[in-house]
Amino acid sequence: SCTQWWCFLYKCLLAVLVFSDDWDIYSFHINSTVTSRYATTVITSRVANRMNESKEIEFHVRIPKNAFISKFRMFINGQVYDGVVKAKEQAQKQYTEAVSRGESAGLVSSVGRTLEEFRTSVTVAAHKKVTFELTYEELMKRMHGKYELQIHARPMQPVRDFKVTVDVYIHEEAGISFIDSFSIYQESKELNSFCLQAWIYFYPTADQQKTCDSCGEQGMNGDLVIVYDVNRDNGLGHIMKSAGYFVHHFAPSNLPRIPKNVVFLIDQSVSMHGKKIQQTRTALIHILNDLAEDDHFGLITFDGNIFHWKQELVQANSKNLESAKKFARNIQDRGSTNINQAVLQGASMLNVHHREGSASILILLTDGDPTSGETNLEKIQSNVKQAIAGKFPLYCLGFGFDVNFEFLEKMSLQNNGVARRIYEDSDADLQLKGFYEEVATPLLTDVTMIYVGGTNLTQTNFSQYYNGSEIVVAGQITDNDIETFIPEVSNRRVIFSNTNDSVESTGTVADDRIQRVWAHLTVKQLLDEQLRLSGPKKEKVKKEILELSLKYSFVTPLTSMVVTKPPGENTDVLHKPKEGETQRQWSSVSPSGSRKHTASRTRSGSQSGE
Ligand SMILES: *[C@@H]1O[C@H](CO)[C@@H](O)[C@H](O)[C@H]1NC(C)=O
Ligand SMILES: *[C@@H]1O[C@H](CO)[C@@H](O)[C@H](O)[C@H]1NC(C)=O
Ligand SMILES: *[C@@H]1O[C@H](CO)[C@@H](O)[C@H](O)[C@H]1NC(C)=O
Ligand SMILES: *[C@@H]1O[C@H](CO)[C@@H](O)[C@H](O)[C@H]1NC(C)=O
Ligand SMILES: *[C@@H]1O[C@H](CO)[C@@H](O)[C@H](O)[C@H]1NC(C)=O
Ligand SMILES: *[C@@H]1O[C@H](CO)[C@@H](O)[C@H](O)[C@H]1NC(C)=O
Repeated sequence: SCTQWWCFLYKCLLAVLVFSDDWDIYSFHINSTVTSRYATTVITSRVANRMNESKEIEFHVRIPKNAFISKFRMFINGQVYDGVVKAKEQAQKQYTEAVSRGESAGLVSSVGRTLEEFRTSVTVAAHKKVTFELTYEELMKRMHGKYELQIHARPMQPVRDFKVTVDVYIHEEAGISFIDSFSIYQESKELNSFCLQAWIYFYPTADQQKTCDSCGEQGMNGDLVIVYDVNRDNGLGHIMKSAGYFVHHFAPSNLPRIPKNVVFLIDQSVSMHGKKIQQTRTALIHILNDLAEDDHFGLITFDGNIFHWKQELVQANSKNLESAKKFARNIQDRGSTNINQAVLQGASMLNVHHREGSASILILLTDGDPTSGETNLEKIQSNVKQAIAGKFPLYCLGFGFDVNFEFLEKMSLQNNGVARRIYEDSDADLQLKGFYEEVATPLLTDVTMIYVGGTNLTQTNFSQYYNGSEIVVAGQITDNDIETFIPEVSNRRVIFSNTNDSVESTGTVADDRIQRVWAHLTVKQLLDEQLRLSGPKKEKVKKEILELSLKYSFVTPLTSMVVTKPPGENTDVLHKPKEGETQRQWSSVSPSGSRKHTASRTRSGSQSGE
């Protein structure tokens, strides 16, 4: 990824700077425990200053974007320095003061598709040691029929010999149906799997670590990737309870698929020129090939104008598919971007073509902001909301970094969908296809999760449930009374209930983990909700997020972690970056910038090289 001369030079410079520091990471351990698809990971790095004088020692690691940091501590000279989670505005004030005093402040920045970087530093006296300990928590999301845990098992600075060890413990009361792990150094990992538990350890030798400078590029997002799934009873699913809280995982897979009505809205504005339009064509043809015969579909391309392949939805029979593929092969880039008109036309096609017992889906692919027709973002959002009227989900795929992702995200969330970023890369067609596969097999529509005797529930209504995904609901059990707690899942045609109250499908854990799952999921959903809202309602939700984040010590977009250090040293303030933030920042730094490069740092003080 580092083919530019300036990038090479930068790396050399960095290496020289760091290697001239005589400090050793003598132990680097990652300990991850997963219970009920909730992973708590602790990174512990022990560093010694071998010099006769005090040195600034850095801690720099990568964590998944999806996670919330919940704890950071440093141990120096028998003293513990705890990071404190504070309201972002309050911390920001501290940060600004630190900057104006010429002190440096730390930052969490986002890198690539799935990772964020955390960095901070501390001055350590001659011949003394420091231990850094970072904890983050994430709720694993089932996609394509599996959960995936990624561990980035390296400190980000070039260092001498040190020992990396990773231990991952998985405990799933429902039983593990399959598990596999991949590492960049195959021979260094070991998988021990039993019915309910698995232990994976990853102990690469110093030699393996050295020979693997760019292993991360080999199609893997983490140094250690663990994929697994759990057993399913195909009934009500699995409910875990503890200390008055519950979490319910619902993912039946033995249901028949529901035929779908799907309309694809494809941006063909000039900005799609070249590789992007080519990859879009490839993906579209793959997707068309995957449609089932009882699916109906429509295809609209748009720039400043709207082009219907067919005025209405047609059945996915081979004749129609051939004709659609021919149309797809001939999509050319030209003109501006009329998102408003395209989405309204797509919605109207689906509204006209309503079929009882089928699932309608609208998918928008765009790489830019609206530039023609209606361009007022709020107006577009309200038009779209009105046209869709909650009848089907809208999925927005933002191609590259020139899209206003927040706009797409808001529009999707307002219409029961999600937005996804498609990274401009050689595998963009696979990303598009991968997204489509997530929604390719609807199994249920209009699912309502009912919990008599439950309170403070996370989202309970879901417009569609797709094979390979999962519905997760958490909440409190009123008065912790299990007797009166009755979960049920229903839609217009099926009811799942647990009349047998089978012990198999329920479990209990001793600690407060289920409560943290509830808090995590609640905060995630409230963050989406505040995106969708405005005015006093938004403020109310933000207040709720802030309270929960502070209570459970989560670093979220509304909170920051303040890292205090020994007297006389800078205070670091760590923020969670917004999606796409550093990428934008970076591209303003270097016109030919490669996005894979380590994200730029926003540090004041005497940093050089960026
Ligand atoms: C990993 O963390 C778990 C849970 O906190 C703990 O029980 C276990 O001892 C830790 N393992 C190691 C090797 O530190
Ligand atoms: C540290 O100090 C000792 C004693 O003063 C000296 O012998 C040694 O060479 C010094 N080491 C370094 C790395 O400067
Ligand atoms: C759903 O996925 C499972 C495997 O994950 C598969 O066995 C099943 O056939 C799928 N159902 C449908 C309707 O495609
Ligand atoms: C849970 O719900 C009760 C009312 O049902 C409410 O009084 C309480 O504040 C809620 N707790 C949280 C943490 O939201
Ligand atoms: C969820 O769906 C049920 C049944 O369709 C409906 O009665 C209820 O109002 C919905 N709740 C929310 C919060 O939308
Ligand atoms: C309830 O138990 C009966 C008999 O053991 C079994 O056939 C049935 O599938 C069970 N139902 C559920 C929902 O678990």
